Amino acid sequence: MIDLSTAKKFDQEDVLADFRNHFEHNPNEIYLDGNSLGKLPKKTQKVLQETIQNQWGKRLIRSWNETWLDLPLRLAKKYGTLLKVRKEEVVIGESTSVRLYQILHALIKSQAFSNQLCSDNLNFPTDLYVLQGLANEFNLGRVNLINYNQEIIADLDLLKKNVQNCPGIYCLSLVTYKSAFLYPMKELNLWAKKYNSIIIWDLSHAVGVVEIDLKETQSKIAIGCSYKYMNGGPGSPAFLFIEKKLQNQLYNPIQGWFGHKNPFAFEPNYKPNIGIIRFASGTMPVLSMQAMEVGVDLALAAGLKNLRKKSVGLIRFFLSGVEEKLIPLGFKIQSPLKENLRGSHLALSHNASWQICQALIEGESKSPKIIPDFRPPHFIRFGIAPLYTSYEDLYRVIIRLEEIILMKSYLMFDENKNKVT
Ligand SMILES: Cc1ncc(COP(=O)(O)O)c(C=O)c1O
Repeated sequence: MIDLSTAKKFDQEDVLADFRNHFEHNPNEIYLDGNSLGKLPKKTQKVLQETIQNQWGKRLIRSWNETWLDLPLRLAKKYGTLLKVRKEEVVIGESTSVRLYQILHALIKSQAFSNQLCSDNLNFPTDLYVLQGLANEFNLGRVNLINYNQEIIADLDLLKKNVQNCPGIYCLSLVTYKSAFLYPMKELNLWAKKYNSIIIWDLSHAVGVVEIDLKETQSKIAIGCSYKYMNGGPGSPAFLFIEKKLQNQLYNPIQGWFGHKNPFAFEPNYKPNIGIIRFASGTMPVLSMQAMEVGVDLALAAGLKNLRKKSVGLIRFFLSGVEEKLIPLGFKIQSPLKENLRGSHLALSHNASWQICQALIEGESKSPKIIPDFRPPHFIRFGIAPLYTSYEDLYRVIIRLEEIILMKSYLMFDENKNKVT
C-alpha cells in the first residue's frame, strides 16, 4: 500500500537527496516536466552573473582567450565522460535539429551507406521533419517510416526486418518522447552493422537518466539536447558524438570558421579541421554554454549509476500508487512496464487526460500545483528527474490525481477550449 510514511522513509534513505538543494523550487508546486525543461540550478545564476558582470562587462574581448574558447572543449570532455567516449569524439553547440541535419547531410554525401533514410513512428517530430527535408533536398524519395500502429513499444522484430530489407541511415530516439520506450541500443547497433546500416541515436530523453555507454554499445553517431534532465537551461546547446573512425570521411555542410583548420589565420579558403571540430560552425553561445556546464557538473557529481537507480526506484513507487489507486478510477499506463524497456518518464491516460492535466496544473487551496505535460492524443507525461524529484512528491501526485477524479474537479475545464499546453 502506498503511504506517506513509506515515501518519507525512501527519501531519508536516498543517497541523492541533497542534490534537491542545488535547485530553485517554487513553494507548493511539484514539477514533473524535467523531461522537457529541467529546473534551474542555483549555481547557474551565480555563474551567469559572473559571466555577464565580469567576463562580458569588464574583460570584454579578452575573455575569449581567458575563458570562453576553452568552454566547448571542457564541455565536450564532460559529456564524453558521461557517455563513456573520448573528448575528441564529442562536439558541443547548435540545437539537436541542426546537429541532425549536419550529420545526415554528411552521411548522405559520404555514400558510406545506402541513402535510404529511415525512422519510426515513435520518434520525435523534429527528427522526422529533418529527415523529410533532406530526403527532398537530395531527391531520395520518401523517408521509410516504420509504423508500429501504437505509440508505446517498438516492435523490435519489425524494426530488425526493416533494417534487413531496407538498409540505410536510421534515426531513432533512444528513449521515446511519448511513452519513454527504451531501445536495446547494442543489439540494434550490431544488427544495423550486419546489414550495412547505421543508427543515429537521439539521446535527448535519455541523457542524464539512463546509463549510456556509447563505446560498449558500439554506437557510431549520437546527438542530444542538454536542457531536459541535464538542466542546461532553455535552448542550451546540443552535443554530437561521432565515432573517431568515421570522423574524417564526414564533412560539415555548414563550413563556418570555427570548423576551419586554422580559424584565426583568416585564410580566404575553407579547409576542414581534422576530427570532430570540423563540425563546429560559428561563434558559440557563451552564456548558454556556461549554464550547460553547471548542469553536466551536477549529473557527473551524482553519478549515472545512482541517477538511474533512483529513477527506477521512483517510478516503481509511482507505479505501485497508479496500480493501487488510479487504475480503478479509469487511468491506463501508457509506458512500458518493464524497467529495462523504460526511460525516466511515465505516461498515463484517461478519458479526460487533457482536463486532468489542467486540474493538476491549476492546483487548489489545499493541494499543490503539479506540472506534468500533455501530448496528443491522450498522454499525460510525468517526468521523473532523480536529481530533484522526491518520493514524497510522487505520493502527493497520486493522492491529488485520485482527488481530482473523485471530486470531479477536472470537469471545470472544457475539453474544447485551448488544447495547447
Ligand atoms: C527526441 C528529441 N529530439 C529533439 C528535440 C528538439 O530538439 P531542438 O533542441 O532542436 O529543439 C526534442 C525536444 O523535445 C526531443 O525530444
